[in-house]
Amino acid sequence: MSETPPVFSEVPRVPLPRVEGAAFSGVHVPLIERYHERLPFEPGDKLVSLQEGSTPLLRAPVISEIVGATVRLKLEGANPTGSFKDRGMTCALSAAVRDGAEAVICASTGNTAASAAAYAARAGITCAVIVPEGKIAQGKMAQTLMHGARVISLAGNFDQALTLVRELTATRPIVLVNSVSDYRIEGQKTAAFEIHEALDGELQALCIPVGNAGNITSYWRGFSEMGAAPRMLGFQAEGAAPLVEGRIIENPETVASAIRIGNPVRWEDAMAAATDSRGAIRVVSDAEILTAYRLLASREGMFCEPASAASVAGLLKYGAEGAEQVVCVLTGRGLKDPETALANNDGRVIQCVAETAAIEEAVLGDP
Ligand code: F0G
Repeated sequence: MSETPPVFSEVPRVPLPRVEGAAFSGVHVPLIERYHERLPFEPGDKLVSLQEGSTPLLRAPVISEIVGATVRLKLEGANPTGSFKDRGMTCALSAAVRDGAEAVICASTGNTAASAAAYAARAGITCAVIVPEGKIAQGKMAQTLMHGARVISLAGNFDQALTLVRELTATRPIVLVNSVSDYRIEGQKTAAFEIHEALDGELQALCIPVGNAGNITSYWRGFSEMGAAPRMLGFQAEGAAPLVEGRIIENPETVASAIRIGNPVRWEDAMAAATDSRGAIRVVSDAEILTAYRLLASREGMFCEPASAASVAGLLKYGAEGAEQVVCVLTGRGLKDPETALANNDGRVIQCVAETAAIEEAVLGDP
């Protein structure tokens, strides 16, 4: 344990003002309703929503102390299916239904699949997902199956799955809901709006994991629309870092299965986001990701999935570089990937018989 004291908030001494229609007034407004003026929908359009968006922006006192800046965590795991994908999916599915689609499909490392399956279930249309065999976290598989999607386990990786669904949707009447779709980017840009509003435009750097590179593209579009230009600092896992190495990685590998991607579809957009914002795309190792993953859970009380921890791993590795206000995007919930959590913690489970003396020893005895 370091010396950093815990930071507590206080019960307000005066009643909080209630702002009509505001997301934080206690009424949760679905994302497309909140930002309809900046999204490609018309008044009266039917929406497929699970009340996504308006996620918390949580102060991270321990990480702030380490890097010497005010660091906040954008908790995208607080979205309905536990990841940021819901922001894009409410738009993709609303558009699909509006345009008369009967089925949607995606390739996925897990979260897109879970989100597409949930929104398709809500919309009452068919969903198929193609996932790399043995490489998606259990929570995501459980969600996708529960929502009734057709799950195809591909003997291949994410990049191959994406190539195949792109081919399929070019000739068949099935709507592709990967971040190739501009609706996905449009929906996801709203996270940048929320951060911009919450910090009054004071943000200087945004740290974000990069896989297929849709999300960094979305954030940059969102900030640009607000006239803001925080540095976009994207982080890829060492074994899956095509944007850093400047070449397609044929067999990407990383413990962060969500970002195990060797040929991102938004390659040029992500590079433009980094360049235009005077940011960078950099690499973090699996060990650095797991260190940040454990630190977030054990010191900040925030359990995210390994890919999400890449944003904090990058900040810890490269520092705040003069930025005073930093946001790290935690893209998905820790519960998504119980296997990685169980394999990477210092805890232990104490077996105990149902007797008072044994319980006393188990609770109070030497650890
Ligand atoms: N973090 C998580 C938890 C993700 O699931 C993903 C991507 C990313 C970060 C990277 O975002 O692709 O926009 O650069 N997951 C996709 C999926 C690929 O299929 O769920 P990106």
